[in-house]
Amino acid sequence: MAAKKGNADTITVTDNRTGQTYEFPISDGTIKATDLRTIKVSDDDFGLMTYDPAFMNTASCKSEITFIDGDVGILRYRGYPIEQLAEKSSFTEVCYLLIHGELPTKAQLAGWDEWIKAHVYVDESIRDVINGFRHDAHPMAVLQAAIGGLSTLYPESKEIGDKDQRMKDMVRLIAKTPTIGAWAFRRNLGRALLNPNPEQSYAENLLHMFFDESGMEYNFDPKIIRALDVLLILHADHEQNCSTSSVRAVGSSETDVFQSTSAGVAALYGPLHGGANEAVLKMLRRIGDKKNVPAFVKGVKNREELLMGFGHRVYKNYDPRAKIVHKIAHEVFEITGVNPLLEIAVELERIALEDEFFVARKLYPNVDFYSGLIYEALRLPAEMFTVLFAIGRMPGWLAQWNEMLDDKDQKIARPRQIYTGSGERNYVAMSKRK
Ligand code: CMC
Repeated sequence: MAAKKGNADTITVTDNRTGQTYEFPISDGTIKATDLRTIKVSDDDFGLMTYDPAFMNTASCKSEITFIDGDVGILRYRGYPIEQLAEKSSFTEVCYLLIHGELPTKAQLAGWDEWIKAHVYVDESIRDVINGFRHDAHPMAVLQAAIGGLSTLYPESKEIGDKDQRMKDMVRLIAKTPTIGAWAFRRNLGRALLNPNPEQSYAENLLHMFFDESGMEYNFDPKIIRALDVLLILHADHEQNCSTSSVRAVGSSETDVFQSTSAGVAALYGPLHGGANEAVLKMLRRIGDKKNVPAFVKGVKNREELLMGFGHRVYKNYDPRAKIVHKIAHEVFEITGVNPLLEIAVELERIALEDEFFVARKLYPNVDFYSGLIYEALRLPAEMFTVLFAIGRMPGWLAQWNEMLDDKDQKIARPRQIYTGSGERNYVAMSKRK
């Protein structure tokens, strides 16, 4: 049957309970959920709601920051393809781009880098807090606590209406997150928490803070430093994912940026999100040998477990970041030697990409599938992988938080529920309970 052509920018809905017809505007391929509230069966009816657990089909904001076309495998920051940024940009330039919306001029980038370098030091009280945790505390839990703890140092950050204050706090977080991340790692090793060196580039300083000994500095191959910088670029933003939505939701209560982004760290910690890179490594170690891959895949298909590092809510094609990570892995292994787990990962990918179970569900490797292998080759323990993800994601959280505060459509985040519990009932005295 040929579709009847009507007004292209509206939708007409008939409520079969009442026979009444409603017309709603369509803008950017969406209708406003609150428009549905006008659909009622009676005057005292609350109005129609949508039920959308996990926000499978609900846009929570308008954003100019990151574009993803998951069917084709496209990722762009502020319009620039991730492939070009990974090849030509630096992490701090990408931070500038995400937050300001435009690439910096040479002078702007130099000023930006200087500003970040001026804020890399972290107050001794945070060092004391980190040293107060048990030696085997997971570094993501330590990072989350310490990022939130920065609030104690900067009470002026509560002035979220002051754009200069906001910018200063965003620079503070870009600058201090690596220092705190490295301290969380060194706490695990029982080593002294080293001070940052603002003379070094962002990625180089991070490597030094991870690995140097007091009085002994390592020399890192420039290709390793660049590989780390590119990994940070690849993680810098990914629109409304679980951690970014958490940052926006917490920030919508007008709390400060340190509390808001510590919520992002908490969300990222989970194995279905940033924690997947750690889970991939543990999975590969458990598989242990290429010959065990078919049996493992069989277990995944029998729903015994997930193939970690595969699948994505948005990408139904190869994650463009995973392609770049795969390439970097080979470049890094030329310097560090091949990670023996690579062979297992490649075999897993090969079998999965041919298998009907994964093909039918459009399950492809995501960014976490190979990144852990690189971090391991850099001699970082699996517990640190998600910390590196968090350091990379910080500018994305900040740009999204900043955008949310300027968005006149936004209010405190407060979803509705469908109550399914008991109706009213009288309190029962303890002596009468069965
Ligand atoms: N292994 C096996 N089956 C899977 C996997 C997987 N990794 N991912 C999805 N499926 C199946 C799932 O069981 C479902 O099958 P069916 O329709 O027959 O019930 C189907 O594929 C659709 O999956 P879903 O769980 O409805 O998809 P989702 O969008 O809710 O979940 C995901 C996305 C990333 C949480 C999920 O794919 C997953 O758990 N992957 C493993 C964890 C992982 O690698 N996470 C990192 C994501 S990328 C980095 C980041 O942004 O955090």
